[in-house]
Amino acid sequence: TLQAKIGPSILNADLANLTAESQKLLDNGADYLHLDVMDGSFVPNLTFGHPMVKCLRNNIKSAFFETHMMVSNPEQWIAPMADAGVNLYTFHIEPVKDVCKVSRQVQEAGMKVGLAIKPNTSVEALQQYMDIADLVLVMTVEPGFGGQSFMENMMQKVQWLRSHYPNIDIEVDGGVGPKTIECCAKSGANWIVSGTAVVGATDQRKVITEMREVVQS
Ligand code: DX5
Ligand code: ZN
Repeated sequence: TLQAKIGPSILNADLANLTAESQKLLDNGADYLHLDVMDGSFVPNLTFGHPMVKCLRNNIKSAFFETHMMVSNPEQWIAPMADAGVNLYTFHIEPVKDVCKVSRQVQEAGMKVGLAIKPNTSVEALQQYMDIADLVLVMTVEPGFGGQSFMENMMQKVQWLRSHYPNIDIEVDGGVGPKTIECCAKSGANWIVSGTAVVGATDQRKVITEMREVVQS
């Protein structure tokens, strides 16, 4: 059976205190950390890259790190991110010519591969890669910024994926919190990214636990 996992996005955390912010989320029950990497080209925003991830890994040895690569050339960052201690390398298929080749490179570098689609990308675009993907990410906002509203119509993609691929890990990202978790869970998502709803909560543990229970039930 599929595991329910809650992975806070640290995008809207205090990035200058990333170790403390991340440790707090993990202490409060986060199953993994979702690290949003943006290059100012694939999306109109800039965050951090592998040097920062490597420093975070030095300070936090055991947590599971996913990097969400919102970059134009994901191939370029495979080796540095593997070296930085990333466990799951999730990249967008939109700018990539040979998704299979890049996916194999990710796996050869020792990371799991996640394939992400933006809201305007049809779910059928993922179909030909389902054999190679360890996880698929259905974006529920336009990538680039935290704190946007959840796009409920993306649930059609999640439902389609779940009905065709009962065993794949399906992640949702964008506007997910206690109010929107139920429809994600019902649709079949089992890896749940949540940014502002968790990071900004006064009781992070409560929010994380509540959301995990909804996905598990
Ligand atoms: C959006 C990022 C998301 C986002 C999640 O570009 O990929 O991970 O930060 O934050 P919330 O949950 O606030 O939408
Ligand atoms: Zn993300």
